[in-house]
Amino acid sequence: MKALILSGGKGTRLRPLTYTGAKQLVPVANKPILWYGIESIVAAGITDIGIIISPETGGNIREKTGDGSQFGAKITYILQYEPLGLAHAVKVAQSFLGDSPFVMYLGDNLVESKLDLFLDKFNSKHLDALTLLCEVDNPTAFGVAKVDQQGKVLQLIEKPKNPPSNLALVGVYLFSPAIHDAIAKIQPSARGELEITDAIQYLIDQQKNVESFQLSGWWLDTGKKDDLLAANQIILDSCLDLTIEGAIDAPSKIGGRVHIGVGSNIINSTIRGPVMIGENCHIENCFIGPYSSIANDTTLIDADIEHSVILKGAKVINIEQRIVDSLIGERAQLKPAPQRPKALRFMIGDDSTIEL
Ligand code: TTP
Repeated sequence: MKALILSGGKGTRLRPLTYTGAKQLVPVANKPILWYGIESIVAAGITDIGIIISPETGGNIREKTGDGSQFGAKITYILQYEPLGLAHAVKVAQSFLGDSPFVMYLGDNLVESKLDLFLDKFNSKHLDALTLLCEVDNPTAFGVAKVDQQGKVLQLIEKPKNPPSNLALVGVYLFSPAIHDAIAKIQPSARGELEITDAIQYLIDQQKNVESFQLSGWWLDTGKKDDLLAANQIILDSCLDLTIEGAIDAPSKIGGRVHIGVGSNIINSTIRGPVMIGENCHIENCFIGPYSSIANDTTLIDADIEHSVILKGAKVINIEQRIVDSLIGERAQLKPAPQRPKALRFMIGDDSTIEL
């Protein structure tokens, strides 16, 4: 069994962050989203992993993630020149995959469940495809499956107007090599992409064994800011222990589960967990409230932050209002003007959102 993680794509929904970096590297609880997927695949005993990368962000992903040794895996990077669809990514990876069955994992998805149960079902029933499904409130926004009582998949529909169920396709799939023939037979969709749902539908139409597995835990697609903040909240809730490796001065108050990394200084501040603070951060006269992740090398002075993700090297200095539900990019600076003028001064990247 091999694994194929899809980490190419455009990432339009996370602009402007994705102009300069890969969305799969945006951290959740200070760890790149992509790494959760790698760890979950390795935990299921799969160590031969291919990662699809794009020309724009592939170098960055390769540099950070390496050859896989830090995860106990062997990683092969596969370049997809254009994001022409999930099934196209599988096509590009065909020589890596050979005739091995494989798990396909979308690099911007987070899934709570262990993969073992899905693998057991796939292997024991000799399936050609196993799709993971999760109940959602708004099925019109997803790929949706119609299944029979035994979990056999009857039909897949992309963003249906009249959904046949509320079961959305989660970004993890298991395939036998039969998927390659299916992909060879399908045509690009109206949006110009080779759709994996069309390839799976082809397998269904050919009477192949396509079944589903309904997830009970959470599943998050981190493609947008609010999804990313939700993922951050869930991961901080479930995986954070109290660990203080940095320095905290006497007037500071730390409550709840808080991680403070090596070399970080907390001065005259209140930190109310769950909060994750990386290494070499300077935090002075601040309140850092629940569900905040502060990456390495960040400076926060005279600030009040809650339910937010602050990326590496950012500076937030002397901001009167509380900052909530925010995602602040790498090296971004938020600070007041020198003498409180009537005019505001900005240097804001394309596609940024500022709510004043
Ligand atoms: P999406 O989130 O569906 O697509 P996207 O990355 O282009 O994002 P947006 O909609 O914001 O523009 O992709 C799911 C995952 O699959 C994501 O990790 C990117 C990856 N992907 C590829 O590797 N190749 C592709 O051709 C496509 C479409 C996506």
